[in-house]
Amino acid sequence: MCGIVGYVGFRRAADLIVEGLRRLEYRGYDSAGLAVLDEEGGIEIRKAAGRLSRLESLVREHTPDASIGIGHTRWATHGAPTDGNAHPHVGGCGTVAAAAASGSVAIVHNGVIENFRGLKTGLEAEGYVFRSETDSEVIAHLIDSCLRRALAGGSRVTDEPADSPWVVAVREAIAQLRGTYGLLAIFAGCPDLLVAARLGSPLVVGVGDGEHFIASDASPLAGHADRIVYLADHEVAVVTSDTLRVIHRDAGRVEHSVLPLDLSAADVGMNGFSHFMLKEIHEQPETIRAAMRGRLSRDDATAVFGGLNLTPAQLQHVNRIVLTGCGTSWHAALFGEYLIEEFARLPVEVEYASELRYRNPPIDEGTLLFAITQSGETADTLAALRELKRKGHPTLAICNVVGSTIATEADGGIYLHAGPEIGVASTKAFTSQCVVLALLALYFGRLRHMSYEKGLDFIAALERLPDLVAQALESEPVIRTIAEKYRNASTFLYLGRQYNFPLALEGALKLKEISYIHAEGYPAAEMKHGPIALVDPLTPSVFLIPQGAVYDKVILNLEEIKARKGPVIAVASPGDDRVRELADDVIEVPDAPDFLQPIVEAIPLQLLAYHIAVLRGCDVDKPRNLAKSVTVE
Ligand code: G6P
Repeated sequence: MCGIVGYVGFRRAADLIVEGLRRLEYRGYDSAGLAVLDEEGGIEIRKAAGRLSRLESLVREHTPDASIGIGHTRWATHGAPTDGNAHPHVGGCGTVAAAAASGSVAIVHNGVIENFRGLKTGLEAEGYVFRSETDSEVIAHLIDSCLRRALAGGSRVTDEPADSPWVVAVREAIAQLRGTYGLLAIFAGCPDLLVAARLGSPLVVGVGDGEHFIASDASPLAGHADRIVYLADHEVAVVTSDTLRVIHRDAGRVEHSVLPLDLSAADVGMNGFSHFMLKEIHEQPETIRAAMRGRLSRDDATAVFGGLNLTPAQLQHVNRIVLTGCGTSWHAALFGEYLIEEFARLPVEVEYASELRYRNPPIDEGTLLFAITQSGETADTLAALRELKRKGHPTLAICNVVGSTIATEADGGIYLHAGPEIGVASTKAFTSQCVVLALLALYFGRLRHMSYEKGLDFIAALERLPDLVAQALESEPVIRTIAEKYRNASTFLYLGRQYNFPLALEGALKLKEISYIHAEGYPAAEMKHGPIALVDPLTPSVFLIPQGAVYDKVILNLEEIKARKGPVIAVASPGDDRVRELADDVIEVPDAPDFLQPIVEAIPLQLLAYHIAVLRGCDVDKPRNLAKSVTVE
């Protein structure tokens, strides 16, 4: 949800923090702030409601040249997006009427503190004055209170930063928190100490020479650090410019793995595109290739996965698959259901993660759960995964963000390797999820009934996909013209059958998310059981109607819409004169086998939503009320 970044080293922290927040802005963008130390070691805060550019101007006016600092970009949960509720929050000298800047500690927090009301009452009784409506502010005062006790109790600076009173205070404070946190703290008078703690909200440490970065994901590190450490739940990182110590709540000091980070500044930039979303749409030939790379075996006519962590015998015993996720990932799951049932003949159930976590469906021991998630952080998906894990079922993740909570907690899984997806509306992650699900259908198919020959045909079709997607991108000029024509419509219908039904849902969601136009996706034939009442000359229907098994049936549905004078935008096969005669507008996409066609057709639907939203003047990468990863229920 929110984005956090911290720096300790030798460069001007404020500049690096603002740059880092810019890269994290997709995680939340209703207010932002930073804290650095001034020349005397006091805490200096700058914060501003609204977009990051407001904070940038404040920082430009005057901010100390400190080489330590923390920053935050917020997506409000507790308390409105105001200057006062923006992070960082300062704890201490905390007593009545203390000026914010005279505190002992500044914190930024990502997550939700469930017991903040009780803690707040206790802290108020101690004399702490709260200046915000956030749950996060209790953490700042709690650390201050613990620090006072640690210092009063004779705990003093030691050569080992991990034993210092400041770290002791953070550990004592987090022991009292219920909920989730990714937390960074800096302390007045400590120009070379940054403390981070994680429970249920990701944090990574970027390791440089004489400097360290901490952030809620790797993007602020790109171009600055070439090594990364993923913190785990219940770990506290004690970071100075030259050292990194990791302490686990139960195990004490633990060795941490430093991994290479292969992320360039170009990976997290717009590279000449006007929006991240457009860049990510255009990346799809390559991201689809990346999702398949090293995972196709012609020798065995199957897919190969390195990280399932289940033996072939365990996989043979799988008799049912549950696919779960939220939003776009749920649509990918639905597509996966069609594929896996068709090719592997395994019963598949698709569940909204938010429902699965509270339902109590009968699940036998042959059931395998896949949690599908771009971010690996979505709270509902994580909770559903934990619930099935608790019941002893094997859980796997299909995930994009390496080292994310879901990727870490699942028993195994498959990474998308799509690179950072920054546009809030998911595009490239969706097609990569669909590709991975197709690989799974092949894999389970070949474990069960699928012949060697059919396996090879499947692989050949998959290998053609990136080129077909590249061809589909060429229809962008036509799509832009269609977007001009329909930009003022107030409702859209999206209709498709079989494999194209999940895509109809996804097309409608894309339009809704970024253009704020009401849109509904339906199985094309189901349209006559209600939605047809919406059809009139001002309500366009987007038909997914490639040549394929259900083509003739969908033509009938299209005719029904035309009979009621509804405008039709058809996504169709090249040179389809029948569709061209019936539809008002046609977007041609190259033909693929039915079971892969939606991956090709996703491109024009994403582009249509994008161009309509741009023409309506919407903020495509940061749509109102949405966040990229939703880490609250
Ligand atoms: C949010 C985003 C959606 C996304 C969904 C699931 O609602 O706005 O675009 O599809 O979360 O996210 P995940 O990271 O779990 O795929």
